[in-house]
Amino acid sequence: MVTAVVGLQWGDEGKGKIVDFLAENYDVIARFQGGTNAGHTVIVGDEEFIFHLIPSGILRPQKVGIIGAGVVLDIETLLKEIELVERKTGPIKGRLLIDGRAQITMPYHKDEDALEETKKGGIGTTKRGIGPTYRDKYWRIGIRVYDLFDEKRLVGAIEKSLTYNNHILKIFGGEKHYSKEEIISLLSTWREKIKDFVDDTALFLNKSISEGKSVLLEGAQGTFLDITFGTYPYVTSSHTISGGATIGLGISPKKIDSIIGISKAYTTRVGKGPFPTELDDNLGEYLRQKGGEYGATTGRPRRCGWLDLVLLKYSVMLNGVTDLVITKLDVLDGLDEIKVATEYELPDGSRTRDLPHDLEGVRPIYQSFRGWETVRGAKRKEDFPENARIYLDFIQDYLGVNISMVSIGKERHEIIRYT
Ligand code: GDP
Ligand code: IMO
Ligand code: MG
Repeated sequence: MVTAVVGLQWGDEGKGKIVDFLAENYDVIARFQGGTNAGHTVIVGDEEFIFHLIPSGILRPQKVGIIGAGVVLDIETLLKEIELVERKTGPIKGRLLIDGRAQITMPYHKDEDALEETKKGGIGTTKRGIGPTYRDKYWRIGIRVYDLFDEKRLVGAIEKSLTYNNHILKIFGGEKHYSKEEIISLLSTWREKIKDFVDDTALFLNKSISEGKSVLLEGAQGTFLDITFGTYPYVTSSHTISGGATIGLGISPKKIDSIIGISKAYTTRVGKGPFPTELDDNLGEYLRQKGGEYGATTGRPRRCGWLDLVLLKYSVMLNGVTDLVITKLDVLDGLDEIKVATEYELPDGSRTRDLPHDLEGVRPIYQSFRGWETVRGAKRKEDFPENARIYLDFIQDYLGVNISMVSIGKERHEIIRYT
């Protein structure tokens, strides 16, 4: 059984919580794209863990976590994360595998990202060097984990990388210039620390699947941050949609049995870019406070707004979602009125339910729902207030996909099977 989990909006849908919850029933959990721009929150008892690279299921005993070939690897952050997990679970050697093909995020990638954001006015990235690392990958000048284990190849790769990157730093007005010696020394230290975790994870995964093991594929970011299908150029630099799982892990699309799409009961976005249902008012601020909508990675306030079914419908299509999970329904508790965008009015006055390629200037047309007191404490669907069920059923009918689970709080147990 192979299941992919993807975010259907602009990230932070609660993927970490859901992957941690589902992981109980899977043997292997694999991250397929992105890097330390991700912040996936997992709460176990009174402890909070924010994962940037290691798959969210790792805290459960005996599970194997994979960092796939499509991920960009910031080894400095990875080492901190390994230490954090090991403090909780004991050694994870043999339980964490990193693909040798993963590209390494270098210190200068982070500098370039930060310089572009601050000096050139970027798109509001996380400044974690994600764009520059993927740029170098596709430019064919990146440094891969496997290179660490081949001295001659490594020196060549570093020389090439520095030729371009020191120049780029200068263009961006950076003061730092990196020497070959300091990068060789840094990478040698990193090699020693990660060598026990490096493997061909495509081979491992395909063997695991053949042996009948169950595998959970963990996406980062969200559908509208996808490099191709997102709100370009206000996107990340990887394939966040379910198709990204196959190219990021080296497994055939035929191997994926189900695709779980996660959406909040409303919408958020961090960074710049269009957001038709954004609430730029007190209500938006109310959702931000109640939902704790501050970036898990950067602490930036997330922009908040109503649920957008026009966007979600497209997202369900792009990902081939088989099951929907709605998170943070509890954040809507106590509101008199809840709105959902079901159509857009385009700048020429016409209306559409199909997502236009350009979201600038579209006006959402809302359908209104009555609020409810609270969904907290519910154990079954039947415990939900009627208005909450009306809201969820409407989403389900509009999108034509079953809601399998609804999350009503941060903790592991605060989740309800819906259909
Ligand atoms: P991810 O990036 O998709 O894993 O999501 P984040 O961890 O960045 O953000 C989701 C935030 O919402 C985290 O702080 C979670 O602890 C929290 N969260 C997840 N599910 C729920 C829920 O159902 N209700 C509430 N109130 N918080 C939730
Ligand atoms: P998780 O996995 C929300 C956003 C950034 C910016 C754009 C590009 O926790 O859902 P990048 O640093 O990737 O070059 O930034 O993408 N972004 C995220 N927003 N959640 C994330 O990850 C994000 N990762 C990147 O805010 O708008
Ligand atoms: Mg997040």
